[in-house]
Amino acid sequence: VLQHLLTVSGVLQHLLTTSLVSCRRDGEPPLIKGWIPYVAKTFSQFRLAGCKYMTFVMDPLLYPSVIRHGRQLDFHEFSDKVAPVTFGYPPIRGGKFPGLPEQIGRTFQLLQGDGLSALTESMMSNLLLLFRQDHLGGPPPGGASGDWRSAGMYEFCNSIMFEATFLTIYGRPASASRHSDTGLLRRDFVRFDNMFPLLIAQIPIRLLGRTKAVRDKLIDYFLPHRMSRWADTSLFIRTRSELFEQYDALGDVDKAAQHFAILWASVGNTIPATFWAMYHLARHPEALREARREIQSVLGLGDGVPFSSSRDVRLDREQLEKLVYLESAISESLRLSSASMNIRVAQEDFSLRLDAGRSVAVRRGDFVALYPQTMHMDPEIYEEPQSFRADRFLQDGVEKTDFYKDGQRLRYYLMPFGSGSSRCPGRFFAVNEIKQFLCVLLLCVDLQLEDGQAGATLDASRAGLGILLPAADVRFRYRPRNM
Ligand code: HEM
Repeated sequence: VLQHLLTVSGVLQHLLTTSLVSCRRDGEPPLIKGWIPYVAKTFSQFRLAGCKYMTFVMDPLLYPSVIRHGRQLDFHEFSDKVAPVTFGYPPIRGGKFPGLPEQIGRTFQLLQGDGLSALTESMMSNLLLLFRQDHLGGPPPGGASGDWRSAGMYEFCNSIMFEATFLTIYGRPASASRHSDTGLLRRDFVRFDNMFPLLIAQIPIRLLGRTKAVRDKLIDYFLPHRMSRWADTSLFIRTRSELFEQYDALGDVDKAAQHFAILWASVGNTIPATFWAMYHLARHPEALREARREIQSVLGLGDGVPFSSSRDVRLDREQLEKLVYLESAISESLRLSSASMNIRVAQEDFSLRLDAGRSVAVRRGDFVALYPQTMHMDPEIYEEPQSFRADRFLQDGVEKTDFYKDGQRLRYYLMPFGSGSSRCPGRFFAVNEIKQFLCVLLLCVDLQLEDGQAGATLDASRAGLGILLPAADVRFRYRPRNM
């Protein structure tokens, strides 16, 4: 699909905007025919009889024009059609739950500010707990302490980030530090996640084998009587639970499905993003050494000073902000792996003003889409766009923010987290937790990719939907450092 889109976008690259389907009116953008099946497949629920347009704005210099039309180009109309059928809760817009969408929107603020500090602190203890108990404890099976262990890198990232994020957001059982059934939960989550692109494409869940049963099980995990037995639940989730209690029209399963949707939002992209950051660093040992040196320096550990993994690491928000090299490496891996499409629905017939001299007519109900992956791979903006350069987003020791196209500075040049009204509210937490994972990893273990395997490639099956997964896992070796 990505291949398909990229081929398409290659054709479109120099066009201002493009649209689909017929019945053009004056002032509407040029039509590109021939790839309707792709769009029909992915967004079939919107394939209406008659004239329905989807306008792609391909030139990143024009992105601000779309993003600033937040009132006329709404994101939530689209998400409220797609998310409920995917996650199994009732649509919350349309009057049945007065005030709920706005209040849900306000809970997202708890992922920032003080809420972010608390989440970040809790994430650090959870990461250390899992690393110590599962990866740094005794010797590997059949080996001696200090021996190399071998693992699949995606599986490694998935198991740690899934559980640490879960514990941080939803909490732990009141009488234990870990949930005993996380392995089963994760297995079901992966099964659901594999079907995610089909669900988003509105394929009825009853046609997808056991997916409905798997989703029901996942939702049941979050039923109110279960969640009430958990401790250290984040303020974000506690506030959402209290909010749902105020709506009698929301059943227990509906509330649980809302919590399940947040589980997907919080790990569905973060896990592959963590994998790509770790993978690129492992492939570039100089970058890995530089990242480790920066972490040690921010923690006040000189070069060569042994770090004991039994020591508690406190990396607060301010320290994490100082990890500018690591942040650049993470941004670079997001640039290379993210393929999310930003979709808006026009709320009225209007003229979309693109720049001083140009505007295009958009009809009520039409889609307008941005596909930043083409920008991320544009050689005019990013030299050798296919290469990983850990310091691409760094200049003179601070974040680099000037990138150019046609000699003009771009306002938007890196968009893994969406834009405007649909911009990811968890983005700060996501970057912090990836940084924290890499800090614990680089401080506590030595790692190497195993020889004789092909490099990881992107699995295009969820192009348009977020961070792409690797087509196959890669093997690596690791052993505790300085123990
Ligand atoms: C690398 C990790 C992540 C990436 C790349 C990412 C990306 C995105 C994107 C692109 C959207 C907009 C979707 C759209 O336009 O259709 C989004 C929405 C969202 N994300 Fe993230 N996300 C990440 C991590 C997280 C985390 C850790 C959380 C929560 C703890 C989170 C919570 C959300 C929520 C709740 C929304 C929906 C917002 C709304 O309905 O207005 N995300 N994310």
